[in-house]
Amino acid sequence: MSESLFSRLGGQDAVNTAVDIFYRKMLMDERVSHFFDDIDMDQQILKQKGFLTMVFGGPNHYSGKSMREGHAHLLKRGLNDMHVDIVIEHLGATLKELGVTTEDIKQVAAIANSVRDDVLGR
Ligand code: HEM
Repeated sequence: MSESLFSRLGGQDAVNTAVDIFYRKMLMDERVSHFFDDIDMDQQILKQKGFLTMVFGGPNHYSGKSMREGHAHLLKRGLNDMHVDIVIEHLGATLKELGVTTEDIKQVAAIANSVRDDVLGR
């Protein structure tokens, strides 16, 4: 299968839609919404679209911070494995709603897991 995960998911429009739905879920979930209290969500959504496009094998326009740098200050506020699990849960549910295959959802979860230690500063 030579097609990238990015194109299998449906390209830029699908990734953009997925990120919008994903953050709606995150902000409705009180286990994680407090981390985003002071965050400019328009900027956050833009960065996340760029980042996910890159890790899914689409065009690389991501110019944000590394995962380690981007989350370091959240560790002091208690960011831990449970929160990363919740991110993966909401991302998976979002992709499922959009009709993405179980196999591709597993691949996305694996990508998210591959940055877990960086996000958590380990
Ligand atoms: C799979 C794991 C994750 C990925 C791929 C990811 C991705 C990103 C990206 C691309 C940014 C932008 C970095 C920048 O500012 O340049 C970011 C920032 C941020 N992330 Fe994550 N993230 C992950 C896990 C989490 C978790 C578990 C939480 C909390 C529940 C979280 C909360 C935040 C917040 C609040 C910011 C904004 C920080 C700020 O601007 O001060 N992230 N993340």
